[in-house]
Parts: sequence; C-alpha cells; structure tokens
Amino acid sequence: MHKNLFSLTSILPLVFFLACTPEKHDAETREMKRFIDNLMKEMTLEEKIGQLTLYSSYMDETGPFMNEDYLDYIREGRVGAVFNAFTADYTREIQRIAVEETRLGIPLLFGYDVIHGHRTIFPMPIGETATWDMEAIKKSAQIAAREATAEGLHWTFSPMIDVTRDPRWGRIAESSGEDPFLTAEVARAKVRGYQGDDLKDLHTMLATAKHFAAYGAPQAGRDYHTVDMSEITLRNKFLPPFKATVEEGVATFMTAFNDLFAVPATGSEFLLTQILRDEWGFEGFVVTDYTSINEMVPHGFARDEKHAGKLAINAGTDMDMQGSVFYNYLAELVAEGKVSESRIDEAARRILTMKYKLGLFDDPYRYSDPEREKEMIMTAENLEFARDFARKSIVLLKNENNTLPLSDNIRSIALIGPMADNQRDLIGSWSAAGDYTKSVTLLQGLKNRLGSQTQVNYAKGTDVIGEDKSGFPQAIRAAAISDVVIMALGEHYWQSGEAASRSIIDLPGVQEDLFNEIVKLGKPVVVVLMNGRPLTIENVDAKASAILETWFLGTTAGDAIADVLFGDYNPSGKLPVTFPRNVGQIPIFYNVKNTGRPKTEFKFTSKYLDVPNTPLYPFGFGLSYTTFEYSDINLSSNQMPLDGSLNASVTVTNTGDRFGEEVVQLYIRQLVGSITRPIKELKAFEKIALEPGESREVTFELNQNHLAFYNANNEFKAEPGEFHLFIGTNSEDVKKTSFTLME
Ligand code: GLC
Repeated sequence: MHKNLFSLTSILPLVFFLACTPEKHDAETREMKRFIDNLMKEMTLEEKIGQLTLYSSYMDETGPFMNEDYLDYIREGRVGAVFNAFTADYTREIQRIAVEETRLGIPLLFGYDVIHGHRTIFPMPIGETATWDMEAIKKSAQIAAREATAEGLHWTFSPMIDVTRDPRWGRIAESSGEDPFLTAEVARAKVRGYQGDDLKDLHTMLATAKHFAAYGAPQAGRDYHTVDMSEITLRNKFLPPFKATVEEGVATFMTAFNDLFAVPATGSEFLLTQILRDEWGFEGFVVTDYTSINEMVPHGFARDEKHAGKLAINAGTDMDMQGSVFYNYLAELVAEGKVSESRIDEAARRILTMKYKLGLFDDPYRYSDPEREKEMIMTAENLEFARDFARKSIVLLKNENNTLPLSDNIRSIALIGPMADNQRDLIGSWSAAGDYTKSVTLLQGLKNRLGSQTQVNYAKGTDVIGEDKSGFPQAIRAAAISDVVIMALGEHYWQSGEAASRSIIDLPGVQEDLFNEIVKLGKPVVVVLMNGRPLTIENVDAKASAILETWFLGTTAGDAIADVLFGDYNPSGKLPVTFPRNVGQIPIFYNVKNTGRPKTEFKFTSKYLDVPNTPLYPFGFGLSYTTFEYSDINLSSNQMPLDGSLNASVTVTNTGDRFGEEVVQLYIRQLVGSITRPIKELKAFEKIALEPGESREVTFELNQNHLAFYNANNEFKAEPGEFHLFIGTNSEDVKKTSFTLME
C-alpha cells in the first residue's frame, strides 16, 4: 500500500467483501471519491496545479522545445504526468522520484503516442482503416496496449480521429480518412481496444480522442493553419467520431492546435465546455496539444502566456502539455481572482480519478515491471497478427489481365525502386518505440517467400527524393532480363505525418521518370506504393499492369506484401479516402452536395475545363483477385415509420475462382431537406468472406438514427421524406433503390 496514504485507505478491504453487484460498483465509486477528497484536502494549491502539468522526457521529441529541469519540477511536487518516457526501468526511475522524493508521493501518469503499435508496429492508421475490419483494429489496439503497459506506460495519445478530405495535409496518414461514420467506428474499436473493460487491468491504458476539433480541415492543407467552417459542417462531418469516443467511455481528450470559429481550440469554451461537457457529458480530463496554450499568443487570442493560461483553464482545459503556463501562472491567477480555486480542484480531481482507476495509488510501480516487459514485447503471436493485419490493409487499385497474383513458378523478377529495401520508412511516422531495424523490407519479403527457382534482380534505380538518375541504366537492365517487374515507389515516412504538408502530391523525386522508362520495355509492371497519403498517379494508373496501395505497413510489411503478390492472401482493402486526379481537385470527397447546377455536358454547370469531376479512385474502392456480384436490393418495405425500421438486403456472390473477402457498403441520400444534404452518406458496412461460387445474403436494419443529422438549429433529427438507398462495393459502384420515411 502507498506509504503516505495508508491511513486514508484502510477501509478498502470493505469493498472486497461486497458481492459482485451494482452495489459493489457504487461502493467502489464512493470509496474512490472519499480517497480523492481526503487527498485533495491535504494538497496545497501548488500541488494541485502540479497535477495539471505534463512534461516531456528526453527519450523522444515530439514538439518545438524541451524542458531541461523537468526532473526538478517533479521533485517540487509540481508535475502530474510525463510523456515520451518508456521502458519499465526508466519509468520506474522517474516514478520513484515522484513517489519517494515529494511531500505527498502522488504517482505520475506516463503517456506516449502509441498510435499504430508500440514495439510491434502495425500499418499507419489510414492503412488500418483500409481493412474496414473493426475487430482487427480493436485487437491491434489491445496488443499495442499490452506492449506499452509492459513498458510502464499508462496513457496513449490515440486514437487520432480527425476527419480529413485533404491529402496535402500530412497527418491524413494518421487519420481514418474522409468519412465521419467510418472514422467513428474505428474510434470506437480503438478506445475499446486500449481501455478494455477495466482500467485496473495491467494490459489496458487510458485512450485519448484527438485533436479536438476539426484539425483535419486546415486552410490549403497546410498543417496548423486556420480552420473555418459552418457549425452544421462541424457537427455533421467532424464531430461524430469524437462523440462516439465519449459513448465508449474514452478517458481523455486532446485539444487541437487550430482555431475554429476564430477561437483557438485550446481556449474554446464552445468546444471544451458546451459541446464536450454540457452536450456530451464527458467526465474524463482534457489535455492540450504540445504548448498549444502558449500558442494562443501568436494566434493573437492572448496578450501573453499568463492571459493564455487564464483563457485555457476557464474554457475547460485541464492539463498543460509541455507549455509550463499552468506551472508558472495559475497560482497567481487564483490569487488575483481571475481563476477560481474550484476550477483548479475540478481539473485536479479529474486527473487524480484516472490515476486511481489505473490502480496507481495501490501500487505506483505496477506497470513498470521488467519481467513482464520481456514477456510481452514483439512476441511471435503479435508479429503473426501484425502480418495478417498488414495484408488486410493492402488495397488492390488495378490488376489488368489478372497480372496478379504472380505464379510461384515465375523464373525471374526485377524488383526496382527506392522503397524496395528501405526499413525505416516502412514503420511510418508516429512509430513510437518501434525498432525499424526489425522491419521486413519488400526485398526481404520476396527472398523469404521465393525459393532458389526464382531469380530476384534488385536495382534501387533512384532515391525517394532528388534528381539522381544515375541508377536508371542498372534498373532498366534488371527489368530487361526479368519476366515481371515489381516497382516499389512512394514517399519517405517524414513526407507525411505532423508538419509534413505537400503542395504537390505526385510521386516525389524522379521516381515517375524511372517508371516511364521501365514501362517502355513492355514487361508486366506491378507498382507497389508505400506512402502516407493519396498521391496523384494518373500516369502510373494508365501504364502499370497492376497497382497495390500498401501505405506504410509496419514491422511485417515485406512479408505481408509478398503474401498478396503471390496470392497467399487475396487483397480485401478498401480506400478510406478519395484519390484525386490532380491536386487542383482538392478537397475532393464522395459525400459532396449536389449543387444547383450539377455537372452535365451543358456549359453552365459545375465542372472544370481541364479535368473530370470524378476522382482517380473513389472512397470505398478496392479490387480483389476474385469477382463479386450483387443482387438488386430487397427492402422489407418501401416505407419506414418515423419510430420504426426497415431492412435492406442484398445477395452477394463470389463469381470468381478463389476465396475472397468483400466489404459491403450501404449509403443513403436524403433527396430534400431543411438544409442541403450530401448525394451519399455511408451509414453501414459489413465485411464478408465467400468461397468461389458461394452466395451470402447481407441484411442491414435501418432506423431514423441512420437518417438523422444536425439541422440549422443544431437539432439532431431525421426528416420525413424520400430517400435513395445504395448498397455496393464502393461509393460509386452501387445498386440503388428508394424508400420513404413517414411522418
Ligand atoms: C504533437 C501532436 C500530438 C501528440 C503530441 C505529443 O505535437 O500534435 O498528436 O500527441 O504532440 O507528442
């Protein structure tokens, strides 16, 4: 039992005698409140403010500057949490300072960006989402939590659930793409995976819904830029994933860097109090993003950091990440009557509550166990799951004349391109404690899979960036002597992620020049893309025989790609984001409005002179090595009572010659509304597996909640009237029917 607090918790055993009934839960809640009340009675104002302060350790750097003396700040009892520190030994060492060298010994929280795995790295979230497999996504979060908590971590700054329709923005790589419903389903799966059913379980950790809110819609796709949108768009397109995390009991929220409605999110009472607390009933705590309180000064919203601190705490921010603003000014602001002590108490209580729920007051070192660490990290089971998860993330964008899968008996393969033997890029950005030296490259993956009967002729050809074409001749020679060419092309991991917007989203460097030279040989060319965002690849799409979108697949990338190239796994991924034809189309996304002049061949309609309105690849798109046929949609009725439901069914048949998985997608359109409504909105999906020739009826039950939206009065409600209903293999290739929502 913790030394300073033994007298306060001697009645804990009472709790254990209560039967496993709701009364037990109530008794535990009462005991937790009593414990925290008693602790807070002992705390000074400075110690309470300390709980609102978060500093970075030196093990990783994820923002503009570091604090040299944060260990001394901990000794003063004025730090509540540390991030970027991990391993059992290092967290134990820092925790010891807080527990044994401070007056009250309140344990620290340890947080980290465990975004897509901790040591075993999974595909970047945009790739994870391309699986449309929520159970797999939940399991990836569970494994990440097991590895992270084994290394002393209590809290991950994940899931990142910023909806975005702009591939110029580098953090699209960390997102779940353009659709609010799909992103919300991923958000639910990740919160459930990280937090489990009991935060006291050693394998679970606090999750964070970030970045609140609308960070994925920066002006011109430029990171940290202004966000300006209507409240209707905010509520219908950008808030649903965040609301979903509150429904799943997410422990914390993180504020966004951007301003919204001309107010920085970190100082927005509308977001942090009206929406988050009053409308949604969120009970966890809100941490800022990295120094985002300080940044209200350059935003022009605060005179100085002290003013920023007042605005942030009074708007509803509970913890200051790395900015030292709360540490430096809150006590003064309380003394001046500009911030109430009750507000400090409220924030401190929220943070102490999470520490209590994690069991840190029972044993501050319970997560920092070197023995457990050895057992949990990068196990064969974790790696096997990672490979399966990576396979499912791959999207087959083109497969002319069934170029893929390749035959095992193939005599020779040319593997060309700067992404072919490139370990670091494969684990992407935000790769936490991932060890890239353990990632499997595509070159290694081919060697692992192919026997000596197949000659692999490897030539890098060029770099990812830069103008060097000196490797072209060798690459052309390698292609000339091979039966098939595989080209591994893409971006460096740092060309997406934070502070990594691109104004041109072509393949970087001279990779496309190399591709153009190779295709002149007339051999089948399979392009394997490794990238963090949609790229403008119309030329590649026109000339390649086949294209696999593999994103950054993580530790097992090369093996997973080889599994798909040779048909050990039939690709089932579907795009969570639209691929534009050119950067001029951006923002381009499937759930657009019809406008008053939808495009026709007539001049005066909404279109470009130089490019179609359609994307290169639409949202939800992905091919298979087999084919699927959809029956017409069968409705249980063509009328839905306002308080009733209706079923929509299709029969899907695998009309090809191999096993395959298909993501059956359901979209709706409200034809007339009190506000203009999108031409399609994803409202349900189901991933099914079919043997050759097998058919499956897929049925979706719809009710008014699937049709509801936030109207001009911010009311979430469905409106009676005519609806189109679509079911299909992507957002464009669908069967269509209609029904009426009755009064
Ligand atoms: C970064 C990111 C945020 C991350 C935090 C801590 O600036 O914006 O997503 O969780 O700092 O590393």
